[in-house]
Amino acid sequence: MQHKQRHTKTSRDIVTIEDLTNDEIMKIFSLADIFLETMGTGNEGTSRRIRGVTPWAKGFILATLFYEPSTRTRFSFESAMQRLGGSVVTAADPSTTSVTKGETIADTVRVLESYADAIVLRHPFEGAARVAADYTDIPVVNAGDGGHEHPTQTLCDLYTLQKKNKTLAGLNVLLYGDLKNGRTIHSLIYALARFGACIIAVPGTPGLELPTHVHTRLREEYGCDLTTSKNTADLPMKQVDVVYVTPTKPHQLALLDTEELKIEISLPKIDIFYVTRPQRERDHDTAFQNYPSVDRNFLSNNRFRDASVLHPLPRVDELSYEIDEDRRGIYFQQAAYGVPVRMALLAALLHLDEARDFAITKQPEENSERQVYSAELGLKCDNSRCITHHPNESAYLTPTFTYRTPQSLRCVYCEHELQPAFIGNSTTRKYTSCLSKRIKSKHLVCFSNEQQARDRGFELYKTQRSESEKVLT
Ligand code: NCD
Repeated sequence: MQHKQRHTKTSRDIVTIEDLTNDEIMKIFSLADIFLETMGTGNEGTSRRIRGVTPWAKGFILATLFYEPSTRTRFSFESAMQRLGGSVVTAADPSTTSVTKGETIADTVRVLESYADAIVLRHPFEGAARVAADYTDIPVVNAGDGGHEHPTQTLCDLYTLQKKNKTLAGLNVLLYGDLKNGRTIHSLIYALARFGACIIAVPGTPGLELPTHVHTRLREEYGCDLTTSKNTADLPMKQVDVVYVTPTKPHQLALLDTEELKIEISLPKIDIFYVTRPQRERDHDTAFQNYPSVDRNFLSNNRFRDASVLHPLPRVDELSYEIDEDRRGIYFQQAAYGVPVRMALLAALLHLDEARDFAITKQPEENSERQVYSAELGLKCDNSRCITHHPNESAYLTPTFTYRTPQSLRCVYCEHELQPAFIGNSTTRKYTSCLSKRIKSKHLVCFSNEQQARDRGFELYKTQRSESEKVLT
């Protein structure tokens, strides 16, 4: 079956952080503020815990489907739905569902839409939430799909930062830990770029740098200027991966001639220190050694004097219990905000009457340049953790890519980039290995190897013209 087009669906899904505009995020935060003001415990302005129940979602049911362990995300979603006056049906343990009999995501969600008004899904494969969203008419919220994204954790992170700092623009945010496999990092980094923060990415150990497709996207789609630097200056970390400066700081961009200068400019002080754990369960290739633990000594550097320390939790040993008592550690507050933020998101997605001013309705504008290319010829996503490689799901999913340039396609499920080995023109029936050729996307056909091209009756493109003049259109 082909990848379904999203505009056929009237309700909204939150599969990636890109599914929400900055305005919508702010709208959700305003509603979360209302929940804290009216249902929060503690003094006005400092409350973070919700108590009691409102009747707003009476009669609504949320289905939570967790195919991976969870404490904060599942409990806070379920608590949020119940405090909104709605109820929850859940599968916290997939072994109790028909998935053990081989039932697919597509079938599960098409059944669940008759039982519930929205679905929250966590799954170990990247792109699983996209599949769920494509096969049901009710809203689907991604509660983490493998190492891909975790957009509602980002909402909690941003809400915490906004409460602390009022604005994100111009803040120096250090993202530390497993940048490769951490889905919370991937959603957060795009949001930080959009809100104009300066991002410093520091892997916990070599090999855990940001994935290439995330780098590419920050540079090409978010206009981030970035540089790699080995200058550790007086930082306790061994290696700074990259420093991203968003275009909201043009005065800085103008000064970024040398790495030295950039580090000096970008790291005067850290406002936010976002720590993540090594995701050992997702990565059997990396030796998770020398992953420095963040403790008082680590934070004694003057750069961290006023930094807020955040962590999506759970922690293992990368964040010392010492910091719990430190004024800078605000991760339990961050976890507590999970309830008001998720209450606001659910109220907005379900179009609850009382939340009508906050309803999230219109789909974000689709970029007309982006075209979906379905790989009928067996072109496969090369990310082994992509949902298109799942033994059950692969039976009905067609690997599908967004056409970026002839050199690069993006998997619509896991968003990894793929470079085809050969490209062809479906009208002229010619193929070539020269990926710089311009072929209109509607005529573009991609092949993993030459044999595939020949099997489809394509012939090798030959020309007398110079390489630079070759155009296959
Ligand atoms: C994170 C997750 O599941 O991605 N936890 C969470 O949802 N708060 C972080 C992690 O597991 O490391």
